[in-house]
Amino acid sequence: MRILGIESSCDETGVALVECAAQGWPRLLGHALHSQIAMHQAYGGVVPELASRDHIRRVLPLIREVMAGAALNLADLDAVAFTRGPGLAGALLVGSGVACALAAALGRPVMGIHHLEGHLLSPFLSQDPPEFPFMALLVSGGHTQLMRVDAVGRYELLGETIDDAAGEAFDKSAKLIGLPYPGGAGLSRLAEQGNPAAYKLPRPLMHSGDLDFSFAGLKTAVLTQCRKIGPAAHTEGAPERADLAAATQAAIVDVLTHKALRALKDSGLRRLVVAGGVGANRQLRQQLQAQCARAGVRVHYPELHLCTDNGAMIAMAAAMRWQAGLGGLEHRYAFDVRPRWALHERTA
Ligand code: KG4
Ligand code: ZN
Repeated sequence: MRILGIESSCDETGVALVECAAQGWPRLLGHALHSQIAMHQAYGGVVPELASRDHIRRVLPLIREVMAGAALNLADLDAVAFTRGPGLAGALLVGSGVACALAAALGRPVMGIHHLEGHLLSPFLSQDPPEFPFMALLVSGGHTQLMRVDAVGRYELLGETIDDAAGEAFDKSAKLIGLPYPGGAGLSRLAEQGNPAAYKLPRPLMHSGDLDFSFAGLKTAVLTQCRKIGPAAHTEGAPERADLAAATQAAIVDVLTHKALRALKDSGLRRLVVAGGVGANRQLRQQLQAQCARAGVRVHYPELHLCTDNGAMIAMAAAMRWQAGLGGLEHRYAFDVRPRWALHERTA
């Protein structure tokens, strides 16, 4: 069973091919990615219309690249998967339109995949895949969630952000100190030169007793601090700027680590999966690693280049759902995307 996966929910066009093996997890035969970040940077954020148009330009060449890299023809495909949601409606429609057209032409079925399920299952593509059940910390530009995962298709939401996502907190704070969009990785690099204790920033909801998050207040605190610091807060090379970056990162990472450990303790689970773009953050990885080791918990990550959006996680989620016998392969080529879609609402 060979499945082509197409991701186009936001600002990355990703295409990948996976094959289901007789034993073990499906394996990746190839993947290709085009990031639109440089294009959106001029506007300080994603421009949905430009994103859709760029997906249209990129998706077919990427499909050709992946097929050629695997030395296979389109006729060798058994199914086509695409991101059905959540994401930007126009961007999602490009992936679903191409997937449906390709599958219809080949007479193959399609499968619409939940973007977060892709992130959640992406560590199964790594050298060190987790085992079920596990706790998942999903931290991306649009979501911050703690989820209990018992099997493919069995996800229980335990807590989530009530306002901004962790990635959003990184990006908005980065913007305040003059870093280009999306600032998460840039802020994290700058933070390495700074002193996290230089400024005292809030850790919202850290001791709330539940597993929810809130990051909007942190962004306001960063703004207030920026005003106090003055121009040095966004001047390249100024120590204040690096210190503020370090303090911001420390606040976000402290909250994520604290809540993840609390979820592990409450549930008694001994495995943690960290997925989504913010999972690439080095400080988060170090802190989780240290605290989980003390608690006897193993931490699993997708490979670094598969932390942010990509087609491999979409093809993989489809293959794992198929292997688990969950169905979802359809010869109905409807372009029914779900721009807003909660993972726990997804029927197994
Ligand atoms: O999962 P993802 O690629 O897209 C969404 O589904 O949202 O996540 C993108 C988010 C952005 O907010 C980006 O700034 C953040 O992940 N990010 C990071 C790092 N790399 C990406 N945040 C902190 N540290 C990083 N190293
Ligand atoms: Zn994502």
